[in-house]
Amino acid sequence: MKSRKILVTTALPYANGALHLGHILEHVQSDIWVRFQRLRGHECYSVCADDAHGTPIMLRAQQENISPEQLIETMWHRHKADFDGFEISFDNYYSTHSTENREYAEKIYKAVRAAGHIDRRVIKHAYDEEAGMFLPDRFIKGECPKCGTADQYGDNCESCGATYSPVDLKNAVSAISGTTPVERESEHYFFKLGDFEAFLLQFLRSGAVQTEILNKQMEWFESEQGLADWDVSRDAPYWGFKIPDTEDKYFYVWLDAPIGYLASFKNLCEREGIDFDAYLRADSTAEMHHFIGKDIAYFHTLFWPALLKGSGMRVPSGVHCHGFLSVNGAKMSKSRGTFIQAESYLRHLNPEWLRYYFASKLSDGIDDIDLNLEDFIQRVNSDLVGKVVNIASRCAGFINKRFEHTLAQELPDPVLYQELADAADEIAALYEQRRYNQAMRAIMALADRANQYVDEQKPWVLIKDAARQAEVQGICTQGINMFRAIITYLKPVVPQLAADAEVFLNAGELHWSSAQTPLLGSQVVKFKALMTRAEQKMVDAMLVDNQQAMPAAQDAAAAATGPLADDPLSETIQYDEFAKLDLRVVKIIKAEHVDGAAKLLQLTLDLGGEQRNVFAGIKSAYDPTELVGRMTVMVANLAPRKMRFGVSEGMVLAAGPGGEDLFILAPDAGALPGMRVK
Ligand code: MSP
Ligand code: ZN
Repeated sequence: MKSRKILVTTALPYANGALHLGHILEHVQSDIWVRFQRLRGHECYSVCADDAHGTPIMLRAQQENISPEQLIETMWHRHKADFDGFEISFDNYYSTHSTENREYAEKIYKAVRAAGHIDRRVIKHAYDEEAGMFLPDRFIKGECPKCGTADQYGDNCESCGATYSPVDLKNAVSAISGTTPVERESEHYFFKLGDFEAFLLQFLRSGAVQTEILNKQMEWFESEQGLADWDVSRDAPYWGFKIPDTEDKYFYVWLDAPIGYLASFKNLCEREGIDFDAYLRADSTAEMHHFIGKDIAYFHTLFWPALLKGSGMRVPSGVHCHGFLSVNGAKMSKSRGTFIQAESYLRHLNPEWLRYYFASKLSDGIDDIDLNLEDFIQRVNSDLVGKVVNIASRCAGFINKRFEHTLAQELPDPVLYQELADAADEIAALYEQRRYNQAMRAIMALADRANQYVDEQKPWVLIKDAARQAEVQGICTQGINMFRAIITYLKPVVPQLAADAEVFLNAGELHWSSAQTPLLGSQVVKFKALMTRAEQKMVDAMLVDNQQAMPAAQDAAAAATGPLADDPLSETIQYDEFAKLDLRVVKIIKAEHVDGAAKLLQLTLDLGGEQRNVFAGIKSAYDPTELVGRMTVMVANLAPRKMRFGVSEGMVLAAGPGGEDLFILAPDAGALPGMRVK
């Protein structure tokens, strides 16, 4: 097999918000593909970055009284932590606010300008006189010109679905200052997309995009105005890169965003001595694949290839669109609690459960994908735990305990094993084509075959017969080898499970071809449980936690965008952060030991009518009986935390170094339960 050179990218998340499971869907889709390619022995680099420019990020930073640099720095760390949590194996995770990106944005812009693809003309645009800036459509609100619904954004109506231009809105106001925008003229720079019509038609028909996307984009060519010029400039104040040879014009964020793919890769190349040009020059034989959501297909299948072409670089080998993630059958919604943040998921659930669930649903099409939480639990338990891991756990114990960890010298059913080995090509083709749902089905069919074999052979019966020990060793060797083949095929989806299986199998790393040769006569190590079952209560706790984090999502973002952890300033907090604490006087009406907890007491607190259950780590200092009836102070608006013993709904305040020297704080006489502490 000839080794390929492959560069893979995923859409760059905006640096003004936390990641949610919709983002994760995309990165899981590409990561499976990337890991698959590497497993097959190809050179495959995966790069991404935060999309750090644009008006929303500028305004968000202003609101929080920090610099945009601080905002994007903090967000970068949060995003990176989420991706690590979901085992996304980027070779580089960078930022569009980088020197490399400035360099490439300028280079590409100058190249297309030199070739005559940039036009300048004066246009009218909504301007906020109070804020002193031009307003992006999203920052203008008013009544829908069609149905009259109030409070609609400048580009489309959420109520009737009409699309229009912000000038058509009735009673329009700026979302920034609340004043009425005026029209103002300014000179803008345009990229002449129409110059690339012939090239784009050829590109779209080359097989680089899905049929659905091809059909959709064809509408642009067939429409009367044809391919419209693309406005690539924005007036100051704008958070981004200044356009060369201008005083106060900036690149629109969508110009330098895709260039961020190249900048991230360039940064990696410099660090690791990879030949950047070998991947990017016009006649490169390397591949470049972009994984994106269908909402941004326009940018990636028209502007981006045209920019690359216009500046003399290679064009994408593939732009792969996926559909949108819904949760329990509906669009993710903050009010319904189904807008699940990546951080919330990771606090409660195993990332590989979701990777597998997404894999079982993802196809090469652009249909939306539903995360049904009940189905999720059921699918993970039945497939990963009940089928895959089960094969190993049924066979490993005998090999460990009865045969000194040693596998038999031969397979008792080589024909059956060959069936699993022969499935490699078909499964590889499905991965390659991003038909993961079919790949997972094919792999689970193999797992069913393997379990059926063990069921039929009944090693647990034979083991009782002293004369048939060798048979048991053979059966278990067969089972473990079938498990090994299945895990090899699943490795791109569940890398940690595969790594744990590799430890158990004790024969090095699994490669795609490993399944072709069974492991015989070697020693495995002691088997440890490879995966636990997903449980409804974990999902429930995740949802509660997520909901708690949600209004505070603004806060969390605010906190996250405050001074960085390694900044000495982080030792002080702002008044408004302090003001968020809801401290209350409470009366302890019940205090009990907690079974199995070394440090905790369970307190029932009265806040003047309302009661709270709180687990407090004060057992070393207090006997529960002496606490009942006493007054203390609690943090009443702390998000409930699920602990092993139950949910803790707040925290009581105590002072001291710990151990016996721990003192709960007490208000002075006269304070009553429920009173706010100021
Ligand atoms: N910053 C741009 C992308 C620039 S790429 C040069 C952007 N950012 S985004 O944060 O809004 O979206 C990032 C990716 O997440 C996009 O591919 C988008 O389609 C995807 N998704 C956002 N919400 C999604 C779902 N609910 N479901 C699936 N994917 C979703 O667009
Ligand atoms: Zn409307």
